[in-house]
Amino acid sequence: MIRSVVRGFGAALPKRVVTNRELEETVDTSDEWIVQRTGIRQRYVAGEGETTASLGAEAAQNALDNAGLTVADIDLIICATSTPDNTFPATAVNIQNRLGMHHGFAFDLQAVCSGFVFAMSTADLHIRCGMAKRVLVIGAETFSRILDWTDRTTCVLFGDGAGALVLEAMECEGSDTDRGVLTSQLRSDGAHKDKLFVDGGPSTTGTVGHLRMEGREVFKHAVGMITDVIEAAFTATGTTAADIDWLVPHQANRRIIDASAKKLGIPLEKVVVTVDLHGNTSAASIPLALSVAAADGRIKQGDLVMLEAMGGGFTWGAVLLRW
Ligand SMILES: CC(C)(COP(=O)(O)OP(=O)(O)OC[C@H]1O[C@@H](n2cnc3c(N)ncnc32)[C@H](O)[C@@H]1OP(=O)(O)O)[C@@H](O)C(=O)NCCC(=O)NCCS
Repeated sequence: MIRSVVRGFGAALPKRVVTNRELEETVDTSDEWIVQRTGIRQRYVAGEGETTASLGAEAAQNALDNAGLTVADIDLIICATSTPDNTFPATAVNIQNRLGMHHGFAFDLQAVCSGFVFAMSTADLHIRCGMAKRVLVIGAETFSRILDWTDRTTCVLFGDGAGALVLEAMECEGSDTDRGVLTSQLRSDGAHKDKLFVDGGPSTTGTVGHLRMEGREVFKHAVGMITDVIEAAFTATGTTAADIDWLVPHQANRRIIDASAKKLGIPLEKVVVTVDLHGNTSAASIPLALSVAAADGRIKQGDLVMLEAMGGGFTWGAVLLRW
C-alpha cells in the first residue's frame, strides 16, 4: 500500500522575541504567574513585513532544502492557519507564489490549533488516493495580530511562527512497522464555539476581531479530548503507549501536556516540549516542535511519533506516524 512518509522538515520564526518580563511592562501579569500556569517563558512576535505567508514560505523552503527537493517536485501545498494574510485568496497560494511554484494546487485549512493535525490527515488522503505524490504541509500563524493586548488572560499565551513537512508517497507493506502516517483520528464539536473564538469576521462584523477564551473551560475539556483520540489511534493500529518513541503535542500549556502524558502512561522524557520557547503558535506549534526535535537528533528515522492537538471549535485530533 501507499503511505505518506516524512521526507523533510523546516521552521521559521519572527525576529523579535518577547519575554514574560517584557509583558509585565504592558499588562498586569508576572513571569512567575505565566511560567507556573502555562510553562511559557517567551514567544516570538511578527514585525513589519513578517506575515503568515512570509513565515510559511520560509518554513516551506527550509523543509524543501532539508528534503533535498525543489518546488518542481511538489504537487500540493496545504497551509493550516487561522490568521491568513487576506480573507482570500488562501495563504497557501500566496506561499505557492512566493516559492515560485506555478503548477499543482494549494489551499488553506482552518481547524485552529488542530489545523496541522487536520492538514496532515488531508495530505495523507491526497497521497493515498494518488492525487499527489509530494505535499508541503504547513502550519503558519501570526496570532499576535488577533490578540487583545490589553487582555492579560489571553495575550500572554500566544506567539507567531511557522513549520512545515514534506510528505512523500512510498510503497509500503501495510503493517504498523511501515514508515509514514499509520492513522489519523479527527473530531470536532461546534457546541463549544463560545469557549474559544474570535469576535469578528468578514460575514458578521466585517472586522478581523480579537481572540476570546474561557481558559478554565478549555482546560477542563482538553485532557479528556486529547487522550480519547490518542487511545483511538492506538486501537486503530494495534499499538500501545509503550510503543511510542515521541509524543509531539500541540504546545498550548505545559500543564495540559503533562496531564495528558501522565494519563496515557507516556514518560515525560518521551514528550517534546517547546511551549517555553514559542508559546502557543496554534497550527504552527506541532511542525515547529517536530523541527526542533528532528534537528537536534531526538526524532530519528523509524521512530513512532504521536501528534495530537485540541483547539477552537472545538476541534481535536491525533496522527500516528513512523518517522
Ligand atoms: C488560561 C489559563 C493559563 C489560566 O489559568 P487558571 O489556573 O485556569 O487561571 P484562572 O483563569 O482560574 O485565573 C486565576 C486568576 O489569575 C488571574 N489571571 C489571569 N491571567 C493572568 C495573567 N496573565 N497574569 C496574572 N494573573 C492572571 C485571573 O484574573 C484570576 O484572578 P482572580 O482569581 O482574582 O479572578 C488556563 O486556564 C489554561 O491554560 N487554559 C487552557 C487555555 C489554552 O490552552 N487554550 C488554547 C487551547 S488551543
